Amino acid sequence: MAKRSGNSEDLHGVSRREFLKKSGILIGGAALASMPIFSACGNAKTISLTSSTATTLVETIPATTVTMTNYTTTPAVFTTTAASVTSPVPTMSGSNPFDGTVILGRPAADFMAVNLLASAATEVYVAYGKTSGATGGQTDVFSLLPGQPLEIELSGLAADTQYYYRVCHKGPGEQDFSALAEAAFHTQRFSGSTFNFGIQGDSHPERTKSMFNPDLYRITMDNVKAHHPDFYFLLGDDFSVDPMINNNQLSPQAVNGLYSNQRTYLSVVGSSSPIFLVNGNHDQAARYLLDGTANNAAVYVGQARTRYFSQPAPGNFYSGDAEQVPYIGLLRDYYAWTWGDALFVVIDFYWHSPVAVDNVAGSDNGAKKRDMWDITLGDAQYKWFKQTLEGSKAKYKFIFSHHVLGTGRGGIELTGGYEWGGKNDKGVSEFAAMGPGWDAPIHQLMAQNGVSIFFFCHDHLYVRQELDGVVYQAVPIPADFTYTAFNRDAYKSGVVLPDTGFLNVTVSPANVKVDYISSYLSKDETQTRKDGQLTYSYLL
Ligand SMILES: [Fe+2]
Repeated sequence: MAKRSGNSEDLHGVSRREFLKKSGILIGGAALASMPIFSACGNAKTISLTSSTATTLVETIPATTVTMTNYTTTPAVFTTTAASVTSPVPTMSGSNPFDGTVILGRPAADFMAVNLLASAATEVYVAYGKTSGATGGQTDVFSLLPGQPLEIELSGLAADTQYYYRVCHKGPGEQDFSALAEAAFHTQRFSGSTFNFGIQGDSHPERTKSMFNPDLYRITMDNVKAHHPDFYFLLGDDFSVDPMINNNQLSPQAVNGLYSNQRTYLSVVGSSSPIFLVNGNHDQAARYLLDGTANNAAVYVGQARTRYFSQPAPGNFYSGDAEQVPYIGLLRDYYAWTWGDALFVVIDFYWHSPVAVDNVAGSDNGAKKRDMWDITLGDAQYKWFKQTLEGSKAKYKFIFSHHVLGTGRGGIELTGGYEWGGKNDKGVSEFAAMGPGWDAPIHQLMAQNGVSIFFFCHDHLYVRQELDGVVYQAVPIPADFTYTAFNRDAYKSGVVLPDTGFLNVTVSPANVKVDYISSYLSKDETQTRKDGQLTYSYLL
């Protein structure tokens, strides 16, 4: 019988330490290993919420079934603004501008989501096919409402295939459809394929005085696009709500503006490379901010990040977070899939810790006084993570998170502590007591299961380190006009390089190649600093 663990979903606002004490699992800091306190109901777990109107059964993934009981509102869903109409598709002879953005998302073997956003009412459809210039398939025509993201699904696609598509659009008073420039994407690669993907660290668009220049961000986007990645990761702190909380400007509209603003940059890449989001501390997509109502930063953010960017949900292709959160729905925060010979795994602490993992909302530096054992993946995510790693036969395994434990400074310097390494600040192991029922801390799980690279950011620099066969790779940020290695003193070993740019990772049957591609404003280029140059590279 499984013992109760420090599951954040069930902590009910108390600390992990308090919860374990009250449960009888932790007495005086020691575990009563033989005392079964809770029974796990097979693989099912029930979360009951207060209030009254509906009972909804949601998706099932192998390790966890979540049943939601009695909550007041239907969770937010995609494409609420979509309205399919059956009119015949006109010829594409128009020449009207499209005042909007296109971002691809949640690619699969037979699927691609095309997420559209425009400032004016527009009718849209997607024409697509396997041959450039001769797209054969097309979707229905949909109504795109002003300022409302719309997701059009392309399904029934062939695996490991290059597709070409055009978004066709027509304003209310326009006779004919016009077409955006043709773009291309690739469906899931077969094993044995060679492909590449890209990653950027904290873009921090709000930090225009210290590390964000919009022209430099666009330069980085152009550099990414030139490498044609199959997909592109943002590792978090790309939608900071902290300044607007601090200035009493928090509203759903203001939060939506953050996500809409990022699309203006990311659509350069995202129209041909699906975008994957990883949650960061300043994004404040965080459980501790939920208050049982629809009016808080966590709900605003939770809705925006899944509407403005199509993110994976657990199903046939992806595994991941099956929990439905009132007023948000699926969080789409942790997820995994296989592409070619590689396993991709995104993990998240912010939606699963009962406390502020790093800074408290509205503050840049925040309160650091917290019990570090309260920073947790939670029981469901831990078990899913372990099962995902152990169940994968992929040659390469890549993990993506904002940072080790979602907070702190440094890479392998932090790997011994708390859920990551099992020890407290005095170097004493508390893992058996604080994670009863858990087999091993996160670093050990990664090392035991052959993880190739753990990608993170948060510190705003490039660092490559290695521990127990796992590469710890800090990813540079894309728009830092100061070209600085921030927080470099936190790293006691490894290759340390300053910003600015992104990582282009090429996966082939023979090896993995990690290239640091630098970005420079033209005024900052020198003989040795050229925009788009390969600054550093290594093979695994
Ligand atoms: Fe951060």
